[in-house]
Amino acid sequence: MPAFRTLDDLDPRGKRVLLRADLNLPVKDGKITDMTRIERLCPTIAELASKGARVIVCSHFDRPKGKRVPEMSLKPMQEALARTLGKPVGFVDDCIGAEAEAAANALKDGEVLLLENTRYHAGEEKNDPALAQGFAKLADVFVNDAFSAAHRAHASTEGVAKLLPSYAGRLMQQELEALDAALGNPQRPVVAIVGGAKVSTKLDLLGNLSSKVDVLVIGGAMANTFLAAQGHAVGKSLQEAEMHGTAREILAAARKNGCEIVLPLDLVVAEGFAAHSPNKVVGLDGVPAEMMALDVGPATVADVLQRLSAAKTLVWNGPFGAFEIAPFDAATVAVAKKVARLTEAGQLRSVGGGGDTVSALRHAGVSERMSYVSSAGGAFLEWLEGKTLPGVAALEG
Ligand code: 3PG
Ligand code: MG
Repeated sequence: MPAFRTLDDLDPRGKRVLLRADLNLPVKDGKITDMTRIERLCPTIAELASKGARVIVCSHFDRPKGKRVPEMSLKPMQEALARTLGKPVGFVDDCIGAEAEAAANALKDGEVLLLENTRYHAGEEKNDPALAQGFAKLADVFVNDAFSAAHRAHASTEGVAKLLPSYAGRLMQQELEALDAALGNPQRPVVAIVGGAKVSTKLDLLGNLSSKVDVLVIGGAMANTFLAAQGHAVGKSLQEAEMHGTAREILAAARKNGCEIVLPLDLVVAEGFAAHSPNKVVGLDGVPAEMMALDVGPATVADVLQRLSAAKTLVWNGPFGAFEIAPFDAATVAVAKKVARLTEAGQLRSVGGGGDTVSALRHAGVSERMSYVSSAGGAFLEWLEGKTLPGVAALEG
């Protein structure tokens, strides 16, 4: 794993610490609907504060594109942070400039300040050096705890890390260690499960995984594209006809890499995309022309469970079926439960994340029972693609 400094290498007492967080939380009708990112961030803030740091938290929220969009203010996060931390959090309605500097300089050891949305400045997404300088003026050191925003080379993730002594926060450290144990330096055999709708959005991911894992299980609607590419009729199932050639290339490349690709053995087909739509289990050549596959069948589940029993490491991105609508969550839930049991028995290291994987694992009731569930969406996917994350790279060296 690349070397980076952590909070173990920092004595923050009396120092102004700029902490890049990811407070891009899901919000509906002005209410935070999932506190996970705040809950995972708070240990870093609490540790810094208890060691006497003057903590200045910054983050983006949503995509205001350089404008002060009132609904995208971070102000509502002030209260949520304070409640979770159990201590007061100040707020400044800009993330750089005289007012932010004055507030940062007025902090006492152990106090916490939250800055307004970094994306209110157009320079954030452009990684503008002037904005990065503005951040650097606020603090003595920089701590990045926003793994989930590390795929963005922005002023508050990448730019400022070049200007101040930089460290990984505890959440960043946790993510990097978990991911390294899963793909960087894993115990074998490694199984990857990749689901989701489209092969076209996961080309790099499939390519990278097939060069790293021993077994690559393909589920979700993208499995239909592979099955169709192999000549099976898939009826009205979601699939990408223009990707058949690519799917065959992926299969051939995996074979060359010694990676076994596992496709469904049977399917649950339904009349329509709706909960409890009339459905049945069919073999690969039994998909009626007017029906669609919404889940993999019991023979596939049994096959996957057996492979998991023989595995040491699992990387999971994407559900098997349309898990949001019953009963097409069956395969995802059955596999998730097995993963949880194997993990608890100490037989399997299991890491999941990206896209709707976290909601699928939560739906199955196992998100607390995996070895690690990433707090990242896009960053987790880019990491699975084998890409360098600029926010992480800037901490190295
Ligand atoms: C996320 O929620 O995935 C991160 O906060 C990054 O957000 P972005 O996709 O708007 O850059
Ligand atoms: Mg995103």
